Amino acid sequence: MLIDGHGRTVNYLRVSVTERCNFRCQYCMPEKPFSWVPRENLLSFEELFLFMKVAIDEGVNKIRITGGEPLLREGLDTFIKMIHDYKPDIDLALTTNAFLLPQTAQRLKDAGLKRLNISLDSLKPEVAQQIAQKDVLEQVLKGIDKALEVGLGVKINMVPLKGINDDEILDIIEYCKERNIKVRFIEYMENAHASKDIEGMHGREILEKVKERHTIKALGREGARPSFNYILDDGYEFGLIDPHKHDFCENCNRIRLTAEGNLIPCLYFDEAMSIAESVKKGDIQGAADVLAQVLKDKPKENRWSEDNPNEENISTRAFYETGG
Ligand code: GTP
Ligand code: 5AD
Ligand code: SF4
Repeated sequence: MLIDGHGRTVNYLRVSVTERCNFRCQYCMPEKPFSWVPRENLLSFEELFLFMKVAIDEGVNKIRITGGEPLLREGLDTFIKMIHDYKPDIDLALTTNAFLLPQTAQRLKDAGLKRLNISLDSLKPEVAQQIAQKDVLEQVLKGIDKALEVGLGVKINMVPLKGINDDEILDIIEYCKERNIKVRFIEYMENAHASKDIEGMHGREILEKVKERHTIKALGREGARPSFNYILDDGYEFGLIDPHKHDFCENCNRIRLTAEGNLIPCLYFDEAMSIAESVKKGDIQGAADVLAQVLKDKPKENRWSEDNPNEENISTRAFYETGG
Protein backbone atom coordinates (compact mmCIF):
# COMPACT_ATOMS: atom_id res chain seq x y z
CA MET A 1 0.00 0.00 0.00
CA LEU A 2 1.22 3.51 -0.78
CA ILE A 3 0.95 5.83 2.23
CA ASP A 4 2.10 9.46 2.07
CA GLY A 5 3.85 11.58 4.70
CA HIS A 6 0.47 12.67 6.12
CA GLY A 7 -0.86 9.12 6.47
CA ARG A 8 -3.10 9.27 3.37
CA THR A 9 -3.44 6.16 1.21
CA VAL A 10 -2.59 6.86 -2.43
CA ASN A 11 -4.41 4.54 -4.83
CA TYR A 12 -5.05 6.87 -7.80
CA LEU A 13 -2.49 7.63 -10.49
CA ARG A 14 -3.14 10.21 -13.20
CA VAL A 15 -0.88 9.78 -16.21
CA SER A 16 -0.51 12.54 -18.76
CA VAL A 17 0.53 11.16 -22.15
CA THR A 18 1.04 14.48 -23.92
CA GLU A 19 0.89 18.15 -23.09
CA ARG A 20 -0.19 18.97 -26.64
CA CYS A 21 -3.77 19.94 -27.25
CA ASN A 22 -6.01 20.66 -30.21
CA PHE A 23 -7.94 23.27 -28.14
CA ARG A 24 -6.66 26.41 -26.39
CA CYS A 25 -9.14 26.68 -23.53
CA GLN A 26 -8.85 30.13 -22.03
CA TYR A 27 -8.64 28.78 -18.48
CA CYS A 28 -5.77 26.44 -19.34
CA MET A 29 -3.54 27.57 -22.17
CA PRO A 30 -1.35 30.65 -22.58
CA GLU A 31 -2.70 33.32 -24.92
CA LYS A 32 0.52 33.58 -26.87
CA PRO A 33 1.80 30.65 -28.92
CA PHE A 34 4.48 28.70 -27.14
CA SER A 35 6.83 25.84 -27.83
CA TRP A 36 5.97 22.34 -26.73
CA VAL A 37 8.34 19.98 -25.01
CA PRO A 38 10.19 18.21 -27.86
CA ARG A 39 8.70 14.82 -28.72
CA GLU A 40 11.99 13.03 -27.96
CA ASN A 41 11.62 14.06 -24.30
CA LEU A 42 8.39 12.10 -23.96
CA LEU A 43 8.59 8.75 -22.26
CA SER A 44 7.51 5.86 -24.46
CA PHE A 45 4.40 3.93 -23.47
CA GLU A 46 6.68 1.04 -22.42
CA GLU A 47 8.62 3.39 -20.10
CA LEU A 48 5.46 4.88 -18.62
CA PHE A 49 4.07 1.38 -18.15
CA LEU A 50 7.19 0.20 -16.33
CA PHE A 51 6.52 2.79 -13.66
CA MET A 52 2.78 2.16 -13.67
CA LYS A 53 3.34 -1.52 -12.92
CA VAL A 54 5.37 -0.52 -9.84
CA ALA A 55 2.50 1.69 -8.68
CA ILE A 56 -0.17 -0.94 -9.45
CA ASP A 57 1.79 -3.62 -7.60
CA GLU A 58 1.92 -1.26 -4.60
CA GLY A 59 -1.87 -0.80 -4.54
CA VAL A 60 -2.87 1.73 -7.20
CA ASN A 61 -6.27 0.56 -8.44
CA LYS A 62 -7.44 3.65 -10.30
CA ILE A 63 -5.66 5.08 -13.34
CA ARG A 64 -6.72 8.09 -15.38
CA ILE A 65 -5.07 8.99 -18.67
CA THR A 66 -4.89 12.75 -19.20
CA GLY A 67 -3.06 15.36 -21.29
CA GLY A 68 -3.13 17.96 -22.89
CA GLU A 69 -5.46 16.03 -25.09
CA PRO A 70 -4.57 12.36 -24.63
CA LEU A 71 -6.31 11.24 -27.84
CA LEU A 72 -3.65 13.13 -29.83
CA ARG A 73 -1.03 10.57 -28.85
CA GLU A 74 -0.68 7.82 -31.40
CA GLY A 75 -1.10 4.25 -30.20
CA LEU A 76 -3.12 5.20 -27.14
CA ASP A 77 -5.47 2.24 -27.51
CA THR A 78 -2.50 -0.15 -27.38
CA PHE A 79 -1.30 1.58 -24.18
CA ILE A 80 -4.76 1.23 -22.65
CA LYS A 81 -4.82 -2.44 -23.55
CA MET A 82 -1.40 -2.93 -21.87
CA ILE A 83 -2.80 -1.50 -18.63
CA HIS A 84 -6.08 -3.37 -18.91
CA ASP A 85 -4.40 -6.71 -19.60
CA TYR A 86 -2.07 -6.24 -16.61
CA LYS A 87 -4.97 -5.65 -14.22
CA PRO A 88 -8.42 -5.96 -15.81
CA ASP A 89 -10.32 -4.82 -12.72
CA ILE A 90 -8.50 -1.49 -12.52
CA ASP A 91 -10.72 1.63 -12.68
CA LEU A 92 -9.34 2.78 -16.03
CA ALA A 93 -10.53 6.20 -17.17
CA LEU A 94 -9.54 9.04 -19.47
CA THR A 95 -10.14 12.79 -19.44
CA THR A 96 -10.71 14.35 -22.88
CA ASN A 97 -12.19 17.29 -24.78
CA ALA A 98 -14.11 14.71 -26.91
CA PHE A 99 -13.10 16.22 -30.27
CA LEU A 100 -11.49 13.00 -31.50
CA LEU A 101 -14.00 10.62 -29.92
CA PRO A 102 -16.19 10.05 -32.99
CA GLN A 103 -13.34 8.08 -34.57
CA THR A 104 -11.67 6.67 -31.42
CA ALA A 105 -14.39 5.78 -28.89
CA GLN A 106 -14.99 2.24 -30.15
CA ARG A 107 -11.27 1.40 -30.15
CA LEU A 108 -10.86 2.80 -26.63
CA LYS A 109 -13.76 0.71 -25.39
CA ASP A 110 -12.41 -2.42 -27.09
CA ALA A 111 -8.98 -1.82 -25.50
CA GLY A 112 -10.52 -1.94 -22.01
CA LEU A 113 -11.21 1.69 -21.14
CA LYS A 114 -14.15 2.00 -18.74
CA ARG A 115 -14.92 5.69 -18.31
CA LEU A 116 -14.46 9.14 -19.80
CA ASN A 117 -14.59 12.57 -18.18
CA ILE A 118 -15.37 15.11 -20.87
CA SER A 119 -15.04 18.90 -20.82
CA LEU A 120 -18.21 20.62 -22.01
CA ASP A 121 -18.28 24.31 -21.18
CA SER A 122 -21.05 25.51 -23.46
CA LEU A 123 -23.90 24.35 -25.68
CA LYS A 124 -23.67 27.50 -27.82
CA PRO A 125 -21.29 27.15 -30.79
CA GLU A 126 -19.97 30.72 -30.52
CA VAL A 127 -19.36 30.47 -26.77
CA ALA A 128 -17.66 27.08 -27.10
CA GLN A 129 -15.51 28.67 -29.78
CA GLN A 130 -14.67 31.63 -27.57
CA ILE A 131 -13.55 29.34 -24.72
CA ALA A 132 -11.67 26.71 -26.76
CA GLN A 133 -10.46 29.34 -29.27
CA LYS A 134 -11.63 27.01 -32.05
CA ASP A 135 -14.98 26.03 -33.55
CA VAL A 136 -15.47 22.77 -31.67
CA LEU A 137 -19.02 22.25 -30.44
CA GLU A 138 -20.54 20.12 -33.21
CA GLN A 139 -17.67 17.64 -33.12
CA VAL A 140 -17.61 17.55 -29.28
CA LEU A 141 -21.32 16.72 -29.13
CA LYS A 142 -20.84 13.98 -31.72
CA GLY A 143 -17.97 12.66 -29.60
CA ILE A 144 -20.15 12.49 -26.50
CA ASP A 145 -22.91 10.67 -28.42
CA LYS A 146 -20.39 8.18 -29.78
CA ALA A 147 -18.93 7.48 -26.33
CA LEU A 148 -22.41 6.76 -24.97
CA GLU A 149 -23.28 4.64 -28.00
CA VAL A 150 -20.26 2.35 -27.52
CA GLY A 151 -21.04 1.95 -23.82
CA LEU A 152 -18.31 4.00 -22.15
CA GLY A 153 -19.15 5.62 -18.81
CA VAL A 154 -19.33 9.40 -19.21
CA LYS A 155 -19.11 12.36 -16.84
CA ILE A 156 -19.12 16.00 -17.90
CA ASN A 157 -16.83 18.72 -16.51
CA MET A 158 -17.87 22.37 -16.88
CA VAL A 159 -15.83 25.38 -15.73
CA PRO A 160 -18.33 28.28 -15.33
CA LEU A 161 -16.78 31.66 -16.20
CA LYS A 162 -18.38 34.99 -15.40
CA GLY A 163 -19.95 36.74 -18.38
CA ILE A 164 -19.03 33.88 -20.73
CA ASN A 165 -20.94 30.67 -19.95
CA ASP A 166 -22.47 31.51 -16.54
CA ASP A 167 -25.95 31.57 -18.10
CA GLU A 168 -25.66 27.96 -19.28
CA ILE A 169 -25.46 26.08 -16.00
CA LEU A 170 -29.14 25.10 -16.07
CA ASP A 171 -28.94 24.12 -19.76
CA ILE A 172 -25.93 21.90 -19.13
CA ILE A 173 -27.84 20.21 -16.30
CA GLU A 174 -30.76 19.55 -18.68
CA TYR A 175 -28.42 18.22 -21.38
CA CYS A 176 -26.78 15.81 -18.90
CA LYS A 177 -30.04 14.79 -17.27
CA GLU A 178 -31.52 13.83 -20.66
CA ARG A 179 -28.54 11.54 -21.27
CA ASN A 180 -28.42 10.21 -17.71
CA ILE A 181 -24.86 11.43 -17.17
CA LYS A 182 -23.37 13.34 -14.29
CA VAL A 183 -22.04 16.90 -14.53
CA ARG A 184 -19.44 18.35 -12.19
CA PHE A 185 -19.07 22.12 -12.11
CA ILE A 186 -15.45 23.06 -11.44
CA GLU A 187 -14.41 26.36 -9.92
CA TYR A 188 -11.83 28.00 -12.12
CA MET A 189 -8.39 27.45 -10.56
CA GLU A 190 -6.28 30.53 -11.08
CA ASN A 191 -3.05 29.74 -12.85
CA ALA A 192 -0.29 31.69 -14.53
CA HIS A 193 -1.05 30.24 -17.97
CA ALA A 194 -4.71 31.15 -18.28
CA SER A 195 -6.10 34.22 -20.01
CA LYS A 196 -5.91 37.25 -17.73
CA ASP A 197 -9.42 38.32 -18.79
CA ILE A 198 -11.37 35.49 -17.22
CA GLU A 199 -12.97 35.21 -13.82
CA GLY A 200 -14.41 31.98 -12.48
CA MET A 201 -17.73 31.64 -10.71
CA HIS A 202 -17.59 30.81 -7.04
CA GLY A 203 -19.17 27.51 -6.01
CA ARG A 204 -21.76 29.46 -4.03
CA GLU A 205 -22.75 31.40 -7.16
CA ILE A 206 -22.99 28.20 -9.19
CA LEU A 207 -25.37 26.71 -6.61
CA GLU A 208 -27.45 29.93 -6.62
CA LYS A 209 -27.95 29.53 -10.39
CA VAL A 210 -29.08 25.92 -9.95
CA LYS A 211 -31.50 27.00 -7.23
CA GLU A 212 -33.21 29.41 -9.65
CA ARG A 213 -34.96 26.35 -11.11
CA HIS A 214 -34.45 23.52 -8.63
CA THR A 215 -34.58 22.60 -4.98
CA ILE A 216 -31.27 21.02 -4.07
CA LYS A 217 -30.06 18.88 -1.23
CA ALA A 218 -26.40 18.36 -0.29
CA LEU A 219 -25.29 14.73 -0.35
CA GLY A 220 -21.60 15.07 0.52
CA ARG A 221 -18.35 13.85 -0.91
CA GLU A 222 -18.01 10.57 -2.71
CA GLY A 223 -14.99 8.89 -1.12
CA ALA A 224 -11.72 10.70 -1.77
CA ARG A 225 -13.08 12.61 -4.78
CA PRO A 226 -12.76 16.41 -4.84
CA SER A 227 -16.36 16.62 -6.01
CA PHE A 228 -19.12 17.45 -3.49
CA ASN A 229 -22.41 15.99 -4.62
CA TYR A 230 -25.94 17.47 -4.65
CA ILE A 231 -29.30 15.99 -5.60
CA LEU A 232 -32.18 17.82 -7.29
CA ASP A 233 -35.81 17.35 -6.31
CA ASP A 234 -36.27 15.05 -9.33
CA GLY A 235 -33.42 12.77 -8.23
CA TYR A 236 -30.73 14.03 -10.64
CA GLU A 237 -27.26 14.17 -9.01
CA PHE A 238 -24.52 16.63 -9.89
CA GLY A 239 -21.18 17.58 -8.37
CA LEU A 240 -19.29 20.73 -7.48
CA ILE A 241 -15.48 20.82 -7.36
CA ASP A 242 -14.41 23.72 -5.17
CA PRO A 243 -10.64 23.68 -4.75
CA HIS A 244 -10.67 27.10 -3.06
CA LYS A 245 -12.01 25.32 0.00
CA HIS A 246 -9.40 22.56 -0.27
CA ASP A 247 -11.15 20.56 2.47
CA PHE A 248 -10.93 17.51 0.18
CA CYS A 249 -7.12 17.62 0.46
CA GLU A 250 -7.22 15.74 3.76
CA ASN A 251 -8.44 12.68 1.83
CA CYS A 252 -6.29 13.23 -1.26
CA ASN A 253 -5.50 9.86 -2.81
CA ARG A 254 -3.70 10.86 -6.00
CA ILE A 255 -0.37 11.55 -7.62
CA ARG A 256 0.34 12.63 -11.19
CA LEU A 257 2.87 11.50 -13.76
CA THR A 258 3.66 13.79 -16.70
CA ALA A 259 4.49 12.63 -20.21
CA GLU A 260 8.15 13.49 -19.58
CA GLY A 261 8.26 11.38 -16.44
CA ASN A 262 7.87 13.97 -13.70
CA LEU A 263 6.04 12.65 -10.69
CA ILE A 264 3.92 15.41 -9.21
CA PRO A 265 2.56 15.08 -5.68
CA CYS A 266 0.06 17.98 -5.87
CA LEU A 267 -1.72 19.79 -8.71
CA TYR A 268 -1.06 23.17 -7.17
CA PHE A 269 2.67 23.05 -6.50
CA ASP A 270 5.64 23.07 -8.87
CA GLU A 271 7.59 20.41 -6.96
CA ALA A 272 8.21 17.19 -8.88
CA MET A 273 10.77 14.40 -9.16
CA SER A 274 11.67 12.61 -12.35
CA ILE A 275 11.44 8.88 -12.92
CA ALA A 276 12.70 9.28 -16.51
CA GLU A 277 16.29 8.24 -15.89
CA SER A 278 15.25 5.15 -13.92
CA VAL A 279 12.67 3.84 -16.38
CA LYS A 280 14.92 4.49 -19.38
CA LYS A 281 17.50 2.19 -17.75
CA GLY A 282 14.83 -0.32 -16.74
CA ASP A 283 15.77 0.41 -13.11
CA ILE A 284 12.56 -0.56 -11.29
CA GLN A 285 14.04 -0.06 -7.82
CA GLY A 286 15.18 3.45 -8.80
CA ALA A 287 11.63 4.33 -9.92
CA ALA A 288 10.20 2.86 -6.70
CA ASP A 289 12.64 4.98 -4.65
CA VAL A 290 11.52 8.17 -6.42
CA LEU A 291 7.91 7.21 -5.82
CA ALA A 292 8.61 6.70 -2.10
CA GLN A 293 10.30 10.11 -1.85
CA VAL A 294 7.46 11.89 -3.68
CA LEU A 295 4.92 10.31 -1.35
CA LYS A 296 6.93 11.33 1.69
CA ASP A 297 7.01 14.96 0.46
CA LYS A 298 3.38 15.20 -0.73
CA PRO A 299 2.04 18.56 0.50
CA LYS A 300 -0.78 18.66 3.02
CA GLU A 301 -3.06 20.85 0.89
CA ASN A 302 -3.19 23.19 -2.07
CA ARG A 303 -3.11 26.97 -1.69
CA TRP A 304 -5.90 28.22 -3.90
CA SER A 305 -7.52 30.69 -1.60
CA GLU A 306 -11.09 31.78 -0.89
CA ASP A 307 -9.79 35.35 -0.81
CA ASN A 308 -9.10 37.35 -3.90
CA PRO A 309 -6.42 35.54 -5.84
CA ASN A 310 -3.07 37.25 -5.87
CA GLU A 311 0.42 36.24 -6.92
CA GLU A 312 0.72 34.05 -3.83
CA ASN A 313 -2.27 31.85 -4.44
CA ILE A 314 -2.31 31.21 -8.12
CA SER A 315 -0.65 28.09 -9.47
CA THR A 316 2.40 28.49 -11.67
CA ARG A 317 2.06 25.04 -13.18
CA ALA A 318 0.23 24.64 -16.47
CA PHE A 319 -2.84 22.42 -16.37
CA TYR A 320 -2.14 21.16 -19.88
CA GLU A 321 1.03 19.57 -18.43
CA THR A 322 -0.70 17.82 -15.55
CA GLY A 323 -4.07 17.09 -17.13
CA GLY A 324 -5.94 19.01 -14.43
P1 GTP B 1 -13.35 10.77 -11.12
O1 GTP B 1 -13.83 11.40 -9.87
O2 GTP B 1 -12.72 9.46 -10.89
O3 GTP B 1 -14.36 10.68 -12.20
O4 GTP B 1 -12.19 11.67 -11.73
P2 GTP B 1 -11.59 13.07 -11.38
O5 GTP B 1 -12.61 14.05 -10.95
O6 GTP B 1 -10.43 12.84 -10.51
O7 GTP B 1 -11.03 13.45 -12.83
P3 GTP B 1 -11.09 14.71 -13.77
O8 GTP B 1 -9.92 14.59 -14.70
O9 GTP B 1 -12.41 14.85 -14.40
O10 GTP B 1 -10.82 15.89 -12.77
C1 GTP B 1 -11.76 16.86 -12.54
C2 GTP B 1 -11.11 18.10 -12.05
O11 GTP B 1 -11.07 18.09 -10.65
C3 GTP B 1 -9.66 18.28 -12.40
O12 GTP B 1 -9.51 18.69 -13.69
C4 GTP B 1 -9.30 19.35 -11.46
O13 GTP B 1 -9.85 20.53 -11.96
C5 GTP B 1 -10.03 18.89 -10.24
N1 GTP B 1 -9.12 18.10 -9.46
C6 GTP B 1 -8.84 16.79 -9.59
N2 GTP B 1 -7.91 16.40 -8.70
C7 GTP B 1 -7.59 17.50 -8.00
C8 GTP B 1 -6.67 17.75 -6.96
O14 GTP B 1 -5.93 16.88 -6.51
N3 GTP B 1 -6.61 19.02 -6.49
C9 GTP B 1 -7.39 19.99 -6.99
N4 GTP B 1 -7.31 21.21 -6.48
N5 GTP B 1 -8.28 19.80 -7.96
C10 GTP B 1 -8.36 18.57 -8.48
N1 5AD C 1 -9.54 25.49 -13.51
C1 5AD C 1 -10.47 24.52 -13.38
N2 5AD C 1 -10.56 23.46 -14.17
C2 5AD C 1 -9.67 23.37 -15.17
N3 5AD C 1 -9.52 22.44 -16.11
C3 5AD C 1 -8.45 22.78 -16.87
N4 5AD C 1 -7.92 23.93 -16.44
C4 5AD C 1 -8.67 24.32 -15.38
C5 5AD C 1 -8.63 25.43 -14.49
N5 5AD C 1 -7.70 26.39 -14.61
C6 5AD C 1 -10.39 21.28 -16.23
C7 5AD C 1 -11.00 21.07 -17.61
C8 5AD C 1 -11.00 19.57 -17.78
C9 5AD C 1 -10.25 19.04 -16.60
C10 5AD C 1 -9.23 18.05 -16.93
O1 5AD C 1 -9.61 20.15 -16.02
O2 5AD C 1 -12.28 21.53 -17.69
O3 5AD C 1 -12.29 19.05 -17.77
FE1 SF4 D 1 -6.82 21.28 -23.98
FE2 SF4 D 1 -8.01 20.38 -21.78
FE3 SF4 D 1 -6.45 22.52 -21.62
FE4 SF4 D 1 -8.80 22.68 -22.93
S1 SF4 D 1 -8.49 22.25 -20.70
S2 SF4 D 1 -6.82 23.49 -23.65
S3 SF4 D 1 -9.01 20.71 -23.82
S4 SF4 D 1 -5.77 20.48 -22.12
